[in-house]
Amino acid sequence: MTKKTVITGTGRYVPPRVVTNDDLSQWMETSDEWIQQRTGIEKRHWVDEDAPVGPSDLGLEASQIALNRAGWSPADIDLIIFATLSPDIFFPGPGCLLQHKLGLSATPALDIRQQCTGFIYGLATADAYIRSGMATKILLVGAEVHSTGLDISTEGRDVSVIFGDGAAAVCLEAVDSDQDVGVLASVLHAKGSMAESLKTEAPASREWPRLTAKMMEERRHFPHMDGKAIFKEALRRLPEVTKEALDQAGLTTEDIDLYIPHQANMRINQFYQQMMKLPEEKVFHNIQRYGNTTAATIPLALDEALEMGLIGKGSTVLFLGLGSGVTWGANIHRFPE
Ligand SMILES: CC(C)(COP(=O)(O)OP(=O)(O)OC[C@H]1O[C@@H](n2cnc3c(N)ncnc32)[C@H](O)[C@@H]1OP(=O)(O)O)[C@@H](O)C(=O)NCCC(=O)NCCS
Repeated sequence: MTKKTVITGTGRYVPPRVVTNDDLSQWMETSDEWIQQRTGIEKRHWVDEDAPVGPSDLGLEASQIALNRAGWSPADIDLIIFATLSPDIFFPGPGCLLQHKLGLSATPALDIRQQCTGFIYGLATADAYIRSGMATKILLVGAEVHSTGLDISTEGRDVSVIFGDGAAAVCLEAVDSDQDVGVLASVLHAKGSMAESLKTEAPASREWPRLTAKMMEERRHFPHMDGKAIFKEALRRLPEVTKEALDQAGLTTEDIDLYIPHQANMRINQFYQQMMKLPEEKVFHNIQRYGNTTAATIPLALDEALEMGLIGKGSTVLFLGLGSGVTWGANIHRFPE
């Protein structure tokens, strides 16, 4: 018998405030037509501007649902892994904040960055902890609050229209089994030479002071993206990493019941589906409703796909994505029968 890392509960939470494409056009020169055509996005959820909350708050809501579905109490958790690029504060990271909000006093909490690939890196890390015997129950959370840090003027429109706030969590459990269940493969990559193509620079520890009025005037505290470079890199890397993950698991494209890609742009995922010659219904999209919630997109999509009955017991799912770093990767997970 060997230890396998199995997803036993999922949960999602988005703040109640809905921001439509038409809402955005009050603040910047854009249109519902442009946004839908170029990205597939119809609306996104943003935290309340008068009473904003952080990713640890959104993550708490999602975690409580996931814990409930897994039948765990917070005290059962051996390790919290929190993936975000938008931490509540500069430090400490939201893993510790969430730990406290869950009523825990000494449970370890690990924060990871890796942006849009945060969930994929987190799942690979959790799997390594579980297989090595260092943990048996891990709560993995992906959560973002982008809206408080976006340039909603026309200057920032290429980035600001794509991001949404949201959170999702998964409970990962060690299961002793000789069957091919749980995490079957994980492939991780990074290419730091492309770090400049999607970044928020400030506050910056390499500058003194870290944030100045001049930096803010220069809009260096807002995200900046070379959208075309990221788009092209995604179309090259996503098929490549799919093959690597399938080879690692000894599977073919037909063995996968559902592909759950990171939701950065619906066009990227449609091109991916065509390049991989996959049937349309095998590639999951929910970017229409949420925009790009970065570290949360994949677990949020997983939770919805389970709820919709698209996958369930015995299903094999492939998660994949590429984002800032740039980082990219994939995991394959099979739910036990
Ligand atoms: C951001 C993205 C949607 C932009 O689409 P694009 O087709 O590359 O568009 P461009 O940036 O070339 O802009 C085309 C035109 O639309 C304009 N434009 C940009 N954003 C706009 C908006 N929100 N509304 C209206 N017009 C906009 C540009 O100013 C440009 O105008 P110009 O031709 O007069 O100069 C696309 O590049 C993308 O999704 N890239 C990948 C994103 C990604 O995967 N990120 C990683 C994860 S976060």
